[in-house]
Amino acid sequence: MTTPAPWWRDAVVYEVYVRSFASTGDTGMGDLRGVAERLPYLVDLGVDAVWLTPFYPSPQHDNGYDVADYRDVDSRFGSLADFDTLLARAHGLGLRVLVDLVPNHTSSDHPWFREALAAGPGSPERARYLFRDKPNNWLSVFGGSAWQRTDDGQYYLHLFDRSQPDLDWTDDDVHTLFDEVLRFWLDRGVDGFRVDVAHGLRKAAGLPDAADPVAAQSGLVTGPMWDQPEVHDIYRRWHRILGEYDGDRMAVAEAWAATPARTMAYCRHDELSQSFNFHWLEAPWSVAAFREVVRETLVEVARVDASPTWVLSNHDVVRHVTRYGGGARGLARGSAATLTMLALPGSAYLYQGEELGLEQVDVPPADRQDPEFHNGRGPGRDGCRVPLPWSGHESPFGNGTGRPWLPQPPEWATLTVEAQRNDPSSTWSFYRRALAARRGLPQATEVTLVDLGPDVFAFRRGQVLVVLNGGDDPLPIPAGEVLISSAPIENDTLPANAGVWLAAPAS
Ligand code: NOJ
Repeated sequence: MTTPAPWWRDAVVYEVYVRSFASTGDTGMGDLRGVAERLPYLVDLGVDAVWLTPFYPSPQHDNGYDVADYRDVDSRFGSLADFDTLLARAHGLGLRVLVDLVPNHTSSDHPWFREALAAGPGSPERARYLFRDKPNNWLSVFGGSAWQRTDDGQYYLHLFDRSQPDLDWTDDDVHTLFDEVLRFWLDRGVDGFRVDVAHGLRKAAGLPDAADPVAAQSGLVTGPMWDQPEVHDIYRRWHRILGEYDGDRMAVAEAWAATPARTMAYCRHDELSQSFNFHWLEAPWSVAAFREVVRETLVEVARVDASPTWVLSNHDVVRHVTRYGGGARGLARGSAATLTMLALPGSAYLYQGEELGLEQVDVPPADRQDPEFHNGRGPGRDGCRVPLPWSGHESPFGNGTGRPWLPQPPEWATLTVEAQRNDPSSTWSFYRRALAARRGLPQATEVTLVDLGPDVFAFRRGQVLVVLNGGDDPLPIPAGEVLISSAPIENDTLPANAGVWLAAPAS
């Protein structure tokens, strides 16, 4: 008898950005009860799991990625009892739940950091963080030096905001804390974790200067602060902890590593379960780029016998409809790319609001909150974090009763869930159909790239032929039963910027 594959190997996981998903109050911010209430919506849409962004006690300098207590719920978002209710409800509906784990840094409000400041240089309390007498040349991802001077003249490292001091993962206390945090949430019943900054936990010994500190500040890079070999030992340890529990508990790495091979190293058989494929997300709208990323990903994933992941949007990047040019063309391309990724073997990670075809919002500078913006590192990420429009004709569009923490554009009146749900031509209906069709895909995970010309990305998975028309002209396609398409097909012709799945006999 063969053991069934773990649920996560081909799951569709929906990222819930808790602050912006659904509010049940007047704070303008989402909360856990809001998520619990809307779980049937996610079941109806057709996803398998939700990933909840951090809801732990936090001063919210980086919207919860600055954790002051890893084992509780911030009162802004609810209580542990609300979390338990949400989890039970999700499980009752057949949904899995992943929570966010933020192990690279704590909040400067975490008791450990306060103790470290109070205890002074050379203390065991300071050894949990990276205090030094002299800074090196590293830069913070959010801008400026990665070092903050303290009152006693030492500096501490913060690869992100200065309210996010980096932990020192050579310290035993740090390992023990996170062993306990993992067990705390696993004991409560979570199905897994999304591991924040998974490539950053170990720094090169001696904290040497970066050869190119600006290049090391962002993107898919290596450097003395990223993707160090020792980081993998941490995941081997966590692999053993996850294995102590039944039910295929898992973890997915947020590792912005330089190449698909390095990204996949995080999901070797004794490490984490999956790793986000940011190479797919970073690819421009280009048939050649899509083909190369898919080819390379599948080669590298096979080497470690892991399952690939596909992701186009999340709370840190410009929404993909906007990246692909925005407007009707951006939306068409977004749907085509989504349909293409949903046909690939492995897991797909969706970001809330993409099922509504939302674009990046140009949040007025006075309303922006992201530390990245306030530190002068470009427009910041607020534009993809605006609270979701559920219903009605004006803000807050059924998302609680308060003024949303980021302003919603009035044009969203036509994009609410309510407006799209009963419209078969809406983006929401397309996503729902695509997720349903995905359940009927062949079991075969073998993908064969098919050459249909330079403007076409095509592959075969079992009996299904997937075609994406990346050119500017309509494309004649092989005759075959159309399983689903991102735009109407007439006379066996696929419009530009559209994708289709065809039931085609093997050639
Ligand atoms: C990645 C998270 O997705 C992002 O939102 C956060 O700012 C950084 N890690 C720092 O935790």
